[in-house]
This record gives sequence, C-alpha cells and structure tokens, in this order.
Amino acid sequence: MHNLLVIVLIVLLCVLFAAQIYLFVKYRRIKKIHLRNIKLLRSLTKTINSVRYGNLYERVNDEISQTFPNLAQSVNSMIESIVDREDMIKEYQNDLSKKINVLKEIEELKEDFVATLTHDLKVPILAEKNMLNFLLDKRFGELNEKQTEALLHLKNSNKELVELVEIILETYKLNETKIELNLEETNVNSLIEETIEEMKPIADTDSIQIKYWTEFDRKIKLDKFYMKRVLKNLILNAISFSNPSSAVDVALCNDDKNIYIKITNYGKGIKKEELKHVFDKYYTTAKKFRKVGTGLGLYLSNKIIQAHKGRIFIESKDHEYTTFIMELAIN
Ligand SMILES: Nc1ncnc2c1ncn2[C@@H]1O[C@H](COP(=O)(O)OP(=O)(O)O)[C@@H](O)[C@H]1O
Ligand SMILES: [Mg+2]
Repeated sequence: MHNLLVIVLIVLLCVLFAAQIYLFVKYRRIKKIHLRNIKLLRSLTKTINSVRYGNLYERVNDEISQTFPNLAQSVNSMIESIVDREDMIKEYQNDLSKKINVLKEIEELKEDFVATLTHDLKVPILAEKNMLNFLLDKRFGELNEKQTEALLHLKNSNKELVELVEIILETYKLNETKIELNLEETNVNSLIEETIEEMKPIADTDSIQIKYWTEFDRKIKLDKFYMKRVLKNLILNAISFSNPSSAVDVALCNDDKNIYIKITNYGKGIKKEELKHVFDKYYTTAKKFRKVGTGLGLYLSNKIIQAHKGRIFIESKDHEYTTFIMELAIN
C-alpha cells in the first residue's frame, strides 16, 4: 500500500515536471514570435515614416508581407495611391506653371501695347497743346470772349490728357527698370507752389480753390521730377474727388526729423475697406463718378515716395474729407 502511494506520487511528480517543461518550451516559442512581431512592426513603422518624408519608392518587405499579408497589402496600396496622387499634382503643377507663363506673356504684351499706344498718343496731344497756345497767344488773330473761354477749356482737358499719358508712361518705365532718383537739394516750398500754379487752371474748371499753408522753408534732398509727379497726382486726385466749388488745402509742416506734405479735399471720402486698395495697381473708382482714371496715379506715387524712403498715409472721414500725408525725412 505504502509502495503504491510512492509510485503514484512519483508519476504525479513526473507529469508535473513534463507539464512544466511543455509550458517552458511554449513560453519560449511565444516570446520568440512576440519579439519577431515587434521587429516586423518596427520595420513597418520605418517604412511608413520613410514614405511620410517623401520616399515613395519604399514598400513593405516580404517578411512582413508573409506574416501580416492583409496589413502589408493595405499599406502598399496606400503608398501606390499616394504615388498616383503625387504624379497628378506634378502634372497639374506643370500645367499651371505653363498657363502662368502664357498669362505673363499676355500681360507683358498688353503693357507693351499700352505703352506704345500711349507714347504715340503723346505726339498729337502735344502738337494740339502747341496749337492751342498759338491760338490763345492770338497768333492767328483776335479772339472774342466765348472763343477764349472755349480754348481755355480745351487747354485744360489737353493738360489732363498729357498728365494721364505721362502717368501711364512713367508707370511702364517703372516696370522695366527700378526708379533711379536724381537727388538734389530742393526747396520743397517752391516746388509745391510751382505745382499748384500748374494745377490751378484744372481746378478752376470745377470752381475749386487750392489753398496753401507752409511753415517750412528749407531745402531737402529730393528728386524734383519724381516729386512733382507725386504732387501733381495727389492734387489732381484731390480736385477730381472734391465736391464742386469746394477747396483743396495743401499744407507743408515739419518736426525734428521729417517734413509732412498734407493734401486735403472735401468730398465723398474713402471708405475704410477701400483704404487698403487705393495704392494697388489699376485700382480706380473713377468710372463710377464718370471720370477718366487709370488706377495708376497712387500706385506710381507710392513707389516714388518709397524710393525716397518716405511714406504716404491717408486720413479720411466718410462724406467729409480725405487727407493724403506724405512723410519725408529731412536728411
Ligand atoms: N482725394 C481722394 N478722395 C477720394 N478718393 C480718392 C482720392 N484720391 C484717390 N482716391 C481713390 O483712389 C483711387 C485710386 O487713385 P489713383 O491711383 O490716382 O487712380 P485714378 O485717379 O486713376 O482713379 C481713386 O479711383 C479713388 O477711388
Ligand atoms: Mg489719380
């Protein structure tokens, strides 16, 4: 009886031992599979990251494909579809850049055409100006009051036309080359007075009076030709966008560092949302008010003032007034 118990115990111990060995072997195998899977998943992550950073030649390797066939197939087809899309985007980009180039060429052709046309227009307009001056100087005989008035009107529209043509030509020149300033010590006061005198006949046509105040009479370094262009543009705008029979106020003042030329007119004003566009090339509301406009005047003026390292800013109140302020350093 005692022996039988010992034998059963031994058999039991053997079974237990065998089970332990079986479990140990199984554990070792599972661990091996687990480590292998981790390695494969790491390699898969590496492949995905490589694709993420642009290597579209990367594919999931065979070892992973054998172990995780569905996952590998999904990842590979995802990469294929990225490649297809990438090709499509490249095709679109090529197409787009071709279209942009064609548009640029058309834009250049258009600008060339406008510049040539404007240049050719300038010749008869200037001839007309000379003829009008001859007539007004009575070289072709005496004139009665009505004839003189009509000729003065013609002379003013001719002057506006000359300004318009010059703005277009100067803007075109600006596209071709950078503004090269010819800086000279200039009496700003005299330059403003001279420009106002030139603009007065145009202002008179709309019964607008140009008034001028100054508290600065020193010279500063400027390009006379370009600065006169800016003054003319701003004064012409002030006249154009004024209420009839109102005034255009021009003022020249200064602080320690800068001079400020302020040109104020009284009219519709410029709305807040419009302010950010007025210096854009071709931005104009002139047609709305049945006036002639190119939308180039402020664009050109701003470029000229920037070339002088100054700035233009605007203060405006709806239906009341607009002030353009030019700030230039006293060098
Ligand atoms: N003094 C002003 N008062 C009101 N609006 C102005 C004034 N000056 C300019 N603007 C606005 O800015 C636009 C652009 O001016 P500008 O570049 O000189 O072009 P254009 O005079 O040919 O229209 C004008 O069409 C107008 O809408
Ligand atoms: Mg203008």
